[in-house]
Amino acid sequence: MTVPDKLAYNYEIVKYFSVMACVYLVLGTSIGVFIASQLAWPDLNFDNRYITFGRLRPLHTNTVVYGFGGSVLLATAYYVVQRTCGVRLWSDKLAWFTFWGWNLYMLGAVITLPLGLSQSKEYAELEWPLDILLCVVWLAYSLNFIMSLSKRTVSHIYVANWFFLSLMIMFTYLHVVNSLVIPVSLWKSYSIFAGVQDAMVQWWWGHNAVGFYLTAGFLGIMYYFVPKQAERPIYSYRLSVVHFWALIFGYVWLGAHHLQYTALPDWTGSLGAAISLAMIIPSWGGAINGMFTLSGAWDKLRTDYILRFLIVSLAFYAMSTFEGPVMASKTVNALSHYTDWTIGHVHSGALGWVAMISIGSIYHMVERMWHTQMFSITLVNVHFWLATIGTAVYITAMWIAGIMQGLMWRAYDDYGNLSYTFVESVAQMHPYYAMRAVGGFIFFCGAVVMLFNVIATIRQATRTSATFPLSGTKQTS
Ligand code: HEM
Ligand code: HEM
Repeated sequence: MTVPDKLAYNYEIVKYFSVMACVYLVLGTSIGVFIASQLAWPDLNFDNRYITFGRLRPLHTNTVVYGFGGSVLLATAYYVVQRTCGVRLWSDKLAWFTFWGWNLYMLGAVITLPLGLSQSKEYAELEWPLDILLCVVWLAYSLNFIMSLSKRTVSHIYVANWFFLSLMIMFTYLHVVNSLVIPVSLWKSYSIFAGVQDAMVQWWWGHNAVGFYLTAGFLGIMYYFVPKQAERPIYSYRLSVVHFWALIFGYVWLGAHHLQYTALPDWTGSLGAAISLAMIIPSWGGAINGMFTLSGAWDKLRTDYILRFLIVSLAFYAMSTFEGPVMASKTVNALSHYTDWTIGHVHSGALGWVAMISIGSIYHMVERMWHTQMFSITLVNVHFWLATIGTAVYITAMWIAGIMQGLMWRAYDDYGNLSYTFVESVAQMHPYYAMRAVGGFIFFCGAVVMLFNVIATIRQATRTSATFPLSGTKQTS
């Protein structure tokens, strides 16, 4: 049923962000495969400073975290807030401003990082003009979301929106404080923090970027898309509320677990480790809540490939939120820190949890927004296996490499001398780095299959209607 513009949901913006998310996934994972290959075969640096590992690594993290992850968060928040509140977005113009602003920010990353312009703060590398741009766009996104919530036609605020709201508030606060710098030129600035305070602020930001950006936002996605795709109510609404408050209260205390055995006061590391351990409870509460939504309908997993992405992502979420607290303990961190175990943990969260839940939600939205089935369900299934196998190969390689590094660095002989030189440990890594590159390539192939399938679905859906491919007929439901 076609309805007047002002009554219909604004799906256009969601469509554009969804397609861009697929594009950034291909781009970000291709850079990931390239830098993984550089670690295995250093000749691939080609003695060219613009494409050295050091410059492309932050380009990889920015493309996957902000390009891909950000596009997914903006797409899903705009989609969920409209559908759960029964209103159109508060401002279409502001929504388009966020779309162009977000992509301008990414263009800034693609240009400045290879040029070596960086603040050298992880996940906050881009220089101050781009920091300001990110802040303005983020505020516009948050304002649009909050104003849409305030216009809702139902009294209740569904839990997914609470998670999105916490992401918006916390990210603003973290980004502003961590980005406080003194600019000395257009593309150079110095942090106002120094020494150990700088490190603490960086990891307070760094961990909460993981906790709120890569977790809370994606939990919002989980709470909407898992019940929708499974066509069942969430297992326990009460558990979701407990999950929300426990997670929000706990996450902000964890940053110091990134700085164990450093100049930071010892008690801060112990506090970080203790609260990290406690985080297993809300994290597993959330994972169980999502998985049990399928109680009595597990057979759906046999035929519904989109649901498979969503449920497997929860298994990886449970796994990485078990592993994280273990790694936060001082004993284990003494072995795992500085090693590839951390990289394995990162990608079990990033590929297994963040990417898989995003992929599931994009497939779900594409089918609903273009009122069609995916062009090829077989290709969705192929993508599922490529993503799962790729992730498993990647993280297995990094676990072996990481534990091996940790053990080699601390081994000593009867006379108290170190048994291995550092360079011997580097040489031992070669097969595992090659294995990671292969795992990453498999995952990347899945991303290409997805992009193809999404574009083919859009073309198939619009073949019958005379509209521009990204602007199908607007509907109220
Ligand atoms: C209860 C949940 C979690 C806890 C307690 C936790 C804990 C940790 C610990 C201890 C480290 C290693 C710090 C170090 O030695 O340097 C780490 C690194 C990391 N974790 Fe988690 N983790 C959790 C969940 C997750 C999830 C779900 C993701 C999702 C993507 C994730 C992403 C990361 C990233 C990106 C890093 C690397 C940070 C860096 O050094 O750049 N973590 N985490
Ligand atoms: C084809 C898939 C991918 C490959 C091959 C890949 C490869 C890599 C490599 C080689 C590094 C640098 C590791 C190091 O410095 O030793 C890295 C870092 C990182 N990647 Fe990926 N990546 C992939 C996908 C992703 C995705 C989809 C995400 C997020 C959603 C992600 C998030 C990160 C993060 C946060 C780091 C920094 C980790 C840290 O500092 O501890 N990656 N990746």
